[in-house]
Amino acid sequence: MKQLAVIILLFSAFIISPNADAHGPKLKNKETASLASNRGPFELVTHTGKTVTDRDYLGKYMLVYFGYTHCPDVCPIDLQIVSEAVDMLGKDGAKVQPVFVTVDPKRDTVKVMAEYVKLFHPRLIGLTGTKAQVASAAKIYRMQSRRSVSQNAEPGEYLIDHSAAIVLIGPDGGGLSLFPHGITADVIVADIKRFIKAN
Ligand code: NI
Repeated sequence: MKQLAVIILLFSAFIISPNADAHGPKLKNKETASLASNRGPFELVTHTGKTVTDRDYLGKYMLVYFGYTHCPDVCPIDLQIVSEAVDMLGKDGAKVQPVFVTVDPKRDTVKVMAEYVKLFHPRLIGLTGTKAQVASAAKIYRMQSRRSVSQNAEPGEYLIDHSAAIVLIGPDGGGLSLFPHGITADVIVADIKRFIKAN
């Protein structure tokens, strides 16, 4: 069991998107040793238009994923994995709040987020906000993103290269694990069960 955590930590030093077209050059998530200190405060707006802070989620595990709704491939796959993991947890799934935070608040309005999250899981919460609110939340979990425009893009069209990692947050609000893109739901489930059992 301990080995699993070590493997995850090792992986997390190389958080990258495997898809160069959609997610651009390798974006690393550094300083993973201090994962537990990756914690709020943040203030964001849910897909129902409610302002929330990190304090609203204390007492629950959170599976947090940063991405954007126009993402052609990686984000939908990872959000599918998050949703699958919550369902596979069965009764324990209620202890876990799945969350999708946009790195593209300009396009991902409350309304757009509401339409998007329901494609994945009935309990998935979409979070957006001002550019500053989103940037500040991304900084907490050391998620990087930058806009990229492909040569044949329509005017105003753009993609966003971003770190692709699922973050597990503990009930005290501190980071517990980072899962790289390509992880399977059963690995996430085993990890969460381990933490639930230990508490
Ligand atoms: Ni993406």
